[in-house]
Amino acid sequence: MTERTFSIIKPDATKRNLTGKVNAVIEDAGLRIVAQRRIQLSRAQAEKFYEIHKERPFFGELVDFMISAPVVVQVLEGENAVARYRDVMGATNPAQAADGTIRKLFAESVGENSVHGSDSAENAAIEIVQFFTDDQIVG
Ligand code: CMP
Repeated sequence: MTERTFSIIKPDATKRNLTGKVNAVIEDAGLRIVAQRRIQLSRAQAEKFYEIHKERPFFGELVDFMISAPVVVQVLEGENAVARYRDVMGATNPAQAADGTIRKLFAESVGENSVHGSDSAENAAIEIVQFFTDDQIVG
């Protein structure tokens, strides 16, 4: 089933000029980048995006990090895109990520872990509309 997922290339990766290298891993995995924009997140946008984590002890640190430099927001399309991208990203903690995954290759820590990907198709839809209108996604 062709589906879409939402991705963020995080500040640790954009700061190190890794956008192209991350995108190469995404494309080599058979996912198509059907929308992409480099933006500076506002604090309000980051807080809304990570609302489900607002009671977590790391919430403040997470929001500070996400607004510390530009991010690249993306829509990825492909067969089982949500699960496929989660495989391509690797475990949240790079110390546990499998070889060849984006986080194993590039992430610095559990917080500065280079990429975000939606955890379900339902959340992908919720996340995509926060950053893209339908006409900005060209499949
Ligand atoms: P992400 O997929 O963007 O969704 C929530 C994020 O919280 C997660 O990736 C991690 O980057 C971050 N996170 C999870 N655990 C911790 C932690 N212990 N300290 C800091 N950030 C964390």
